[in-house]
Amino acid sequence: MLIGAAIAIVAVVPAGVFAFVKSGLFKVAASHPHTMLTEWITHETMIHSVRRHAAHVRPPSSVSKAQVLAGFCTYETHCVACHGAAAIAREQWVSGLMPQPPYLLDATSKWTPSQLFWIAKNGIKMTAMPSWRDSVGDSQVWDVVGFIEAIRRLPPQTYAQWRSRGMCGAFSGPWPAPAPRSTPRP
Ligand code: HEC
Repeated sequence: MLIGAAIAIVAVVPAGVFAFVKSGLFKVAASHPHTMLTEWITHETMIHSVRRHAAHVRPPSSVSKAQVLAGFCTYETHCVACHGAAAIAREQWVSGLMPQPPYLLDATSKWTPSQLFWIAKNGIKMTAMPSWRDSVGDSQVWDVVGFIEAIRRLPPQTYAQWRSRGMCGAFSGPWPAPAPRSTPRP
Protein backbone atom coordinates (compact mmCIF):
# COMPACT_ATOMS: atom_id res chain seq x y z
CA MET A 1 0.00 0.00 0.00
CA LEU A 2 2.70 2.48 1.10
CA ILE A 3 4.98 1.41 -1.73
CA GLY A 4 2.13 1.86 -4.20
CA ALA A 5 1.50 5.41 -2.90
CA ALA A 6 5.21 6.23 -3.09
CA ILE A 7 5.42 5.01 -6.69
CA ALA A 8 2.30 7.01 -7.58
CA ILE A 9 3.85 10.18 -6.07
CA VAL A 10 7.19 9.62 -7.81
CA ALA A 11 5.39 9.22 -11.15
CA VAL A 12 2.59 11.77 -10.68
CA VAL A 13 4.61 14.72 -9.32
CA PRO A 14 7.16 14.87 -12.20
CA ALA A 15 4.33 14.33 -14.71
CA GLY A 16 2.38 17.19 -13.11
CA VAL A 17 5.40 19.50 -13.18
CA PHE A 18 6.08 18.57 -16.81
CA ALA A 19 2.45 19.20 -17.76
CA PHE A 20 2.48 22.57 -15.95
CA VAL A 21 5.69 23.67 -17.71
CA LYS A 22 4.32 22.67 -21.13
CA SER A 23 0.86 24.13 -20.49
CA GLY A 24 2.03 27.76 -20.63
CA LEU A 25 -0.12 28.54 -17.59
CA PHE A 26 2.76 30.25 -15.72
CA LYS A 27 2.73 33.90 -16.75
CA VAL A 28 6.30 35.03 -17.51
CA ALA A 29 5.23 38.65 -18.18
CA ALA A 30 7.39 41.09 -16.21
CA SER A 31 4.36 43.40 -16.17
CA HIS A 32 2.61 40.82 -13.98
CA PRO A 33 3.67 40.62 -10.30
CA HIS A 34 4.91 37.38 -8.74
CA THR A 35 2.44 35.43 -6.66
CA MET A 36 3.18 35.57 -2.93
CA LEU A 37 4.47 32.00 -3.08
CA THR A 38 6.88 32.66 -5.99
CA GLU A 39 7.99 35.88 -4.30
CA TRP A 40 8.69 34.04 -1.05
CA ILE A 41 10.51 31.11 -2.67
CA THR A 42 12.75 33.27 -4.88
CA HIS A 43 13.52 35.89 -2.23
CA GLU A 44 14.28 33.41 0.55
CA THR A 45 16.43 31.36 -1.84
CA MET A 46 18.36 34.51 -2.76
CA ILE A 47 18.93 35.57 0.87
CA HIS A 48 20.20 32.18 1.99
CA SER A 49 22.29 31.64 -1.12
CA VAL A 50 24.04 35.01 -0.64
CA ARG A 51 24.67 34.28 3.06
CA ARG A 52 26.21 30.91 2.26
CA HIS A 53 28.33 31.96 -0.70
CA ALA A 54 29.59 35.21 0.81
CA ALA A 55 30.71 33.50 4.02
CA HIS A 56 34.30 33.13 2.80
CA VAL A 57 34.62 36.69 1.40
CA ARG A 58 37.04 38.82 3.45
CA PRO A 59 36.49 42.60 3.31
CA PRO A 60 39.45 45.03 3.11
CA SER A 61 40.60 46.30 6.53
CA SER A 62 40.08 49.98 5.64
CA VAL A 63 38.51 52.14 2.96
CA SER A 64 40.05 55.50 2.00
CA LYS A 65 38.16 58.66 0.98
CA ALA A 66 39.51 58.26 -2.56
CA GLN A 67 38.01 54.76 -2.69
CA VAL A 68 34.63 56.06 -1.48
CA LEU A 69 34.72 58.70 -4.21
CA ALA A 70 35.77 56.15 -6.84
CA GLY A 71 32.89 53.97 -5.60
CA PHE A 72 30.50 56.90 -6.01
CA CYS A 73 31.60 57.30 -9.62
CA THR A 74 31.20 53.59 -10.37
CA TYR A 75 27.75 53.76 -8.74
CA GLU A 76 26.87 56.79 -10.89
CA THR A 77 27.93 54.96 -14.04
CA HIS A 78 26.54 51.51 -13.37
CA CYS A 79 24.04 51.40 -10.50
CA VAL A 80 22.07 54.61 -9.94
CA ALA A 81 19.78 54.08 -12.95
CA CYS A 82 18.31 50.98 -11.32
CA HIS A 83 18.86 51.64 -7.62
CA GLY A 84 18.53 55.42 -7.34
CA ALA A 85 20.01 57.17 -4.30
CA ALA A 86 18.92 59.55 -1.54
CA ALA A 87 16.84 62.25 -3.30
CA ILE A 88 17.64 60.63 -6.70
CA ALA A 89 14.84 58.65 -8.39
CA ARG A 90 15.46 55.48 -10.37
CA GLU A 91 15.05 55.66 -14.16
CA GLN A 92 11.39 55.46 -15.20
CA TRP A 93 11.86 52.23 -17.23
CA VAL A 94 13.06 50.47 -14.07
CA SER A 95 9.45 50.24 -12.87
CA GLY A 96 9.01 47.70 -15.72
CA LEU A 97 11.39 45.22 -14.07
CA MET A 98 10.12 42.29 -12.03
CA PRO A 99 11.33 42.10 -9.30
CA GLN A 100 12.03 45.80 -9.00
CA PRO A 101 15.50 46.88 -7.86
CA PRO A 102 15.30 48.24 -4.31
CA TYR A 103 16.79 51.55 -3.25
CA LEU A 104 19.99 50.63 -1.42
CA LEU A 105 19.56 53.16 1.39
CA ASP A 106 19.10 50.46 4.04
CA ALA A 107 21.15 47.76 2.27
CA THR A 108 23.91 48.03 4.89
CA SER A 109 21.50 47.03 7.65
CA LYS A 110 20.43 43.94 5.66
CA TRP A 111 23.81 42.85 4.28
CA THR A 112 27.40 42.77 5.54
CA PRO A 113 30.11 44.35 3.33
CA SER A 114 31.14 40.83 2.21
CA GLN A 115 27.56 40.06 1.18
CA LEU A 116 27.20 43.37 -0.68
CA PHE A 117 30.45 42.60 -2.48
CA TRP A 118 29.25 39.11 -3.41
CA ILE A 119 25.90 40.40 -4.73
CA ALA A 120 27.50 43.13 -6.84
CA LYS A 121 30.24 40.87 -8.16
CA ASN A 122 28.03 37.89 -9.00
CA GLY A 123 24.60 39.37 -9.63
CA ILE A 124 21.32 37.57 -8.94
CA LYS A 125 19.89 35.03 -11.37
CA MET A 126 16.37 35.49 -12.72
CA THR A 127 16.29 39.16 -11.72
CA ALA A 128 17.68 42.15 -13.62
CA MET A 129 20.63 42.39 -11.17
CA PRO A 130 23.71 41.90 -13.37
CA SER A 131 27.03 40.33 -12.39
CA TRP A 132 29.73 43.00 -12.50
CA ARG A 133 32.53 40.41 -12.32
CA ASP A 134 33.69 40.84 -15.92
CA SER A 135 33.05 44.54 -16.46
CA VAL A 136 34.11 45.98 -13.08
CA GLY A 137 37.09 44.44 -11.27
CA ASP A 138 37.11 43.27 -7.64
CA SER A 139 38.78 46.43 -6.34
CA GLN A 140 36.13 48.60 -7.97
CA VAL A 141 33.36 46.47 -6.52
CA TRP A 142 34.94 46.99 -3.09
CA ASP A 143 35.02 50.75 -3.80
CA VAL A 144 31.26 50.67 -4.49
CA VAL A 145 30.68 48.72 -1.28
CA GLY A 146 32.80 51.30 0.60
CA PHE A 147 30.68 54.03 -0.97
CA ILE A 148 27.36 52.33 -0.06
CA GLU A 149 28.62 51.93 3.52
CA ALA A 150 29.88 55.54 3.74
CA ILE A 151 26.97 57.37 2.10
CA ARG A 152 24.41 56.34 4.70
CA ARG A 153 26.44 58.16 7.39
CA LEU A 154 26.48 61.37 5.32
CA PRO A 155 23.62 63.91 4.98
CA PRO A 156 20.88 62.79 2.52
CA GLN A 157 21.69 65.60 0.09
CA THR A 158 25.31 64.42 -0.30
CA TYR A 159 24.69 62.30 -3.40
CA ALA A 160 23.02 65.14 -5.30
CA GLN A 161 25.75 67.56 -4.17
CA TRP A 162 28.56 65.30 -5.35
CA ARG A 163 26.73 64.83 -8.64
CA SER A 164 26.23 68.56 -9.19
CA ARG A 165 29.88 69.28 -8.35
CA GLY A 166 30.97 66.99 -11.20
CA MET A 167 33.16 65.02 -8.79
CA CYS A 168 33.67 62.19 -11.25
CA GLY A 169 34.91 64.37 -14.07
CA ALA A 170 37.55 65.80 -11.74
CA PHE A 171 38.65 62.46 -10.32
CA SER A 172 41.09 60.48 -12.48
CA GLY A 173 40.14 57.24 -10.78
CA PRO A 174 40.60 53.73 -12.09
CA TRP A 175 37.01 53.04 -13.12
CA PRO A 176 36.63 52.12 -16.80
CA ALA A 177 35.02 54.49 -19.25
CA PRO A 178 31.66 53.08 -20.39
CA ALA A 179 32.34 50.74 -23.31
CA PRO A 180 31.19 51.90 -26.74
CA ARG A 181 27.78 50.43 -27.50
CA SER A 182 29.13 48.55 -30.53
CA THR A 183 31.79 46.67 -28.52
CA PRO A 184 30.59 43.09 -28.10
CA ARG A 185 31.08 41.56 -24.66
CA PRO A 186 33.22 38.39 -24.78
C1 HEC B 1 19.39 46.74 -14.62
C2 HEC B 1 19.12 47.08 -13.26
C3 HEC B 1 20.22 46.94 -12.22
C4 HEC B 1 21.47 47.50 -12.21
C5 HEC B 1 22.10 48.36 -13.31
C6 HEC B 1 22.06 47.17 -10.95
N1 HEC B 1 21.20 46.41 -10.21
FE1 HEC B 1 21.48 45.76 -8.29
N2 HEC B 1 19.66 44.84 -8.31
C7 HEC B 1 18.78 44.85 -9.37
C8 HEC B 1 17.60 44.09 -9.01
C9 HEC B 1 16.39 43.83 -9.89
C10 HEC B 1 17.78 43.65 -7.69
C11 HEC B 1 16.79 42.85 -6.83
C12 HEC B 1 17.13 41.38 -6.90
C13 HEC B 1 16.19 40.55 -6.03
O1 HEC B 1 15.06 40.96 -5.75
O2 HEC B 1 16.60 39.45 -5.65
C14 HEC B 1 19.09 44.14 -7.28
C15 HEC B 1 19.63 43.91 -6.02
C16 HEC B 1 20.82 44.47 -5.58
C17 HEC B 1 21.31 44.37 -4.23
C18 HEC B 1 20.59 43.68 -3.06
C19 HEC B 1 19.67 44.73 -2.44
C20 HEC B 1 18.79 44.27 -1.30
O3 HEC B 1 18.31 45.15 -0.56
O4 HEC B 1 18.56 43.07 -1.16
C21 HEC B 1 22.49 45.06 -4.19
C22 HEC B 1 23.39 45.27 -2.97
C23 HEC B 1 22.75 45.57 -5.53
N3 HEC B 1 21.71 45.18 -6.35
C24 HEC B 1 23.86 46.30 -5.87
C25 HEC B 1 24.08 46.83 -7.15
C26 HEC B 1 25.26 47.57 -7.51
C27 HEC B 1 26.42 47.89 -6.55
C28 HEC B 1 25.13 47.91 -8.82
C29 HEC B 1 26.11 48.66 -9.68
C30 HEC B 1 27.48 48.16 -9.73
C31 HEC B 1 23.85 47.39 -9.28
N4 HEC B 1 23.25 46.74 -8.23
C32 HEC B 1 23.32 47.58 -10.54
C33 HEC B 1 18.96 45.51 -10.58
C34 HEC B 1 20.07 46.23 -10.96
